[in-house]
Amino acid sequence: MARSSGCEMKSTNIAPKLKVNSMANQSFFVTGALGCIGAWVVRNLVREGINVTVFDLGTDPHRLRLILTADELARVRFVAGDVTDLPLVESSMRAVGTTHIVHLAGLQVPFCKADPSLGARVNVVGTVNIFESAKRLDIKQLSYASSIAVYGLSEEYPEPVLSHDAVTKPRSHYGVYKQANEGTARIYSFDDGVSSIGLRPYIVYGPGRDQGMTSLPTKAMMAAAMGKSYHIPFGGRSAYQYADDVARIFIQAARADFQGADVFNLRSSVARMSEIVAAIEAAEPDSKGQITFDDKPLPFPEDMDDSSLVSVLGTLPHTPLDEGVAQTISIFKQALKDGRLTSDSLK
Ligand SMILES: NC(=O)c1ccc[n+]([C@@H]2O[C@H](COP(=O)([O-])OP(=O)(O)OC[C@H]3O[C@@H](n4cnc5c(N)ncnc54)[C@H](O)[C@@H]3O)[C@@H](O)[C@H]2O)c1
Repeated sequence: MARSSGCEMKSTNIAPKLKVNSMANQSFFVTGALGCIGAWVVRNLVREGINVTVFDLGTDPHRLRLILTADELARVRFVAGDVTDLPLVESSMRAVGTTHIVHLAGLQVPFCKADPSLGARVNVVGTVNIFESAKRLDIKQLSYASSIAVYGLSEEYPEPVLSHDAVTKPRSHYGVYKQANEGTARIYSFDDGVSSIGLRPYIVYGPGRDQGMTSLPTKAMMAAAMGKSYHIPFGGRSAYQYADDVARIFIQAARADFQGADVFNLRSSVARMSEIVAAIEAAEPDSKGQITFDDKPLPFPEDMDDSSLVSVLGTLPHTPLDEGVAQTISIFKQALKDGRLTSDSLK
């Protein structure tokens, strides 16, 4: 167990129980669903035939268009709205008969750093509004995105594999906001019986991952698909999670009849950057020598235990790294061919 320090909080585990709700008549409300993980959540739900509402500040469905057909996209309901607007969040949830919530809307590390006040409004107040609306609609369970960024520097955690309940010691505004959300979830469980499962992704990769600090491995995959060179200014060993797998876990977590509030690390594939580059070169042999990186590790613990999440949700979806990278490059190549991506897409 890591040492404790000032600003920290342990995750809670309040008698988890799992029952899967009937899927008939489900209506999913997915915030931030024009983003990377959200787009994959929407794709999975649409392919299951489930009603899904995208609630997002943005209006550009370019990530959805990368991975859904036009017919699939036509089955999605869109609400352009801000999670900081409680009356709008609540009325939108009501209007579409929401039964399930996946809360993903948020500003990532660089945006929170550039404007901490806005970051706090969106990430913290926005999350309070989702829980408050769930309470008012009597929705008893939801899933939401926390982050690996709730943890401190890797050297603060001497154990090689980070335990599920290691103390949180965030080093960024973003991490502090995510930590606050984990507290919000706990209080809505204690006070109002709104249960939740928070998930802490690390490096999510795959089509649609085009912003945020750890989007660069995916951008390197896009560069390879375009026949361009690309440099990633970090390396080391980290946990990589294919966006489709992450999305499925968020859906499983929203459906779990889970009592209490807990937050879980995601693991999937733990790999060195050299293995990511090797997977890119295997999928796109012309990229050999074109993808480079600085072997500076990210500041976060590199490996984490996900057995607690498995004990709550059962077997987790897991796409092997080489398959996830190959699928990503293949989707990018197809999108380049039919004009859904252009060389300008690589910024
Ligand atoms: N991608 C990762 O590697 C990763 C890692 C850890 C945690 N997370 C968390 O997972 C969640 C989803 O990540 P992502 O990669 O899909 O993010 P993303 O940046 O691709 O998408 C976020 C979405 O939130 C929307 N949004 C921003 N402000 C909003 C507001 N005020 N109201 C409504 N919508 C708003 C954006 O328009 C965007 O579509 C985020 O909360 C993120 O912090 C992601």
